[in-house]
Amino acid sequence: MRTLFIAGNWKMNLSKDESCKLGEQLRDAVGDAGDVRVAVCPPFVFLDPLGALLDGSPVAIGAQNMHPEIGGAFTGEVSGSMLKDVGCEYVIIGHSERRHVFGETEDFIAAKVTRALADGLKPIVCVGETLAQRESSETQQIVCRQVESALNGVDNDAMSLITIAYEPVWAIGTGRTAAPEQAEEVHAIIRSLISDLFDSGVADNVVIQYGGSVKPDNATDLLSRENVDGALVGGASLKAETFIPIIESARSIMQMGQQ
Ligand code: PGA
Repeated sequence: MRTLFIAGNWKMNLSKDESCKLGEQLRDAVGDAGDVRVAVCPPFVFLDPLGALLDGSPVAIGAQNMHPEIGGAFTGEVSGSMLKDVGCEYVIIGHSERRHVFGETEDFIAAKVTRALADGLKPIVCVGETLAQRESSETQQIVCRQVESALNGVDNDAMSLITIAYEPVWAIGTGRTAAPEQAEEVHAIIRSLISDLFDSGVADNVVIQYGGSVKPDNATDLLSRENVDGALVGGASLKAETFIPIIESARSIMQMGQQ
């Protein structure tokens, strides 16, 4: 059965009080999430209180990043086992802001994916082309290279723990969403690549989220596409009024599919 997975990436936003209040609102509103998976990814410093607050609820928590080493002299960094310690189930890896603002390389991202799995975390691996790459018809090549490289050390069994988030860089935080047809086209390409790299069973089951200006008014259209299995939501995940309707859209789609 198809799963829809809605995750909120809070980035470097909200205070501790605001984070906890939003966590409470989500916990109360999501109640029984049914067949929709929900997670929030607050900044590192709020993972611990959010983990405690959401413990036992259907809202999971994830981190926005991690370091690929087990531990040691890496000032300012956080390891996968530390994330696990505070209740993280997921970790976002290779977000475009990490790639483009912080210069993370594909090898570094692949090392994080391997370490996250070893530490018992479920990676949400982000991929996506820039506007210049799309305009020069390089989308497929770039996205496929990013997926293949990030999954280099992952075997068939571990693929059940991986989520891929297709996030065109030009759609992130810009209010410019990919048309559902554009998202669907790239998602289908990613699924076919996963089939080539692993097998068709792995490809059928891998969750491929779309990210980039997902809002309540475009969520249903995006999430209804055959190969769109969820959303990684930035700006609209910072308020209950905009995040909860996206979760509800996913729930309605699941319910309609089951009728
Ligand atoms: P956005 O961010 O929804 O604000 O565009 C998405 C993301 O960066 O994950």
